[in-house]
Amino acid sequence: MKHFISLNDLPDFKQAVALAKSLKQQPYAFETQGKRKTLGLLFFNPSLRTRLSTQKAAQNLGFNTIVMNFSNEAWALEFEDGTEMRGIRSEHVREAAAVVSQYCDMVAIRAFASLSNKEQDEADIVVNSFAKYADIPVINMESAVGHPLQALADALTLEEHALPHRPKVVLTWAPHPKALPHAVGNSFTNMMRYQEADYVIANPEGYDLNPEITKGIPVLHNQEEALKDADFVYAKNWCSYSQYGQILRTDNEWLLTEEKMALTNNAKFMHCLPVRRNIVVADGVIDHANSLVIEQANNRTYAAQAVLKTLLDHA
Ligand code: CP
Repeated sequence: MKHFISLNDLPDFKQAVALAKSLKQQPYAFETQGKRKTLGLLFFNPSLRTRLSTQKAAQNLGFNTIVMNFSNEAWALEFEDGTEMRGIRSEHVREAAAVVSQYCDMVAIRAFASLSNKEQDEADIVVNSFAKYADIPVINMESAVGHPLQALADALTLEEHALPHRPKVVLTWAPHPKALPHAVGNSFTNMMRYQEADYVIANPEGYDLNPEITKGIPVLHNQEEALKDADFVYAKNWCSYSQYGQILRTDNEWLLTEEKMALTNNAKFMHCLPVRRNIVVADGVIDHANSLVIEQANNRTYAAQAVLKTLLDHA
């Protein structure tokens, strides 16, 4: 594995989940494997879980870590080739990526979608430019189109709550006052392709995810119908993909409530966090014993550790 930009970069998905599970049991089993190596973590956007869990994962493997809030501490980056750099962008990604490669043995990057330019977002310009111009492995800590570290942690969470029967897993859209990216929904959907499960996506009309990502997966526009007999319910907001970046509705009809959860097969509740209570999910659902959100956050460490270890193994 050269980079970890998508779950599909993993040499073996099931092995990666098994590795994350075993690292959770023995986090320090490989505590010297990253000794004298440095992981750089570059944040173009805010984070709580990703920042802390990826640092902790690296430290469990013996790495040194350098963290930088790129958006307000670094020179603004230019990504276009052949431009006269007269504007506010002072440094080209070609030099920035090459320079970071001098100080770090791996670099992890968070760079959300702009939600204003679909073509540029789909090109995933920040992560892919670093992968192109850095000569070290690049790790995606949520890019414009994917959040594979979250999806790998979610796979571990599903594995830990495996049922004796083939589960029904529902990803349901939920309301949100701000336009949010598609990255979590995309990567969760990609991850579900590796699972033995009945997977359904529920979202209102106008909110279908990229049809290339959801190809072959049932997409229902009736939330209550989708929730029937679900074993796992993953709530997440995303903005419209077809009317790119737009918020098409502001009502609370799709708020995930206890009444709706009663339609399920006593389903576990999942969300990547952060979450807006009583906008996305009712208090009674997130505070219920079936809520897995803190376990999901905990599993971020071991998912990241499995990815870092796999990159070290393939160095
Ligand atoms: N789930 C997640 O990525 O959380 P943060 O944005 O806090 O890192």
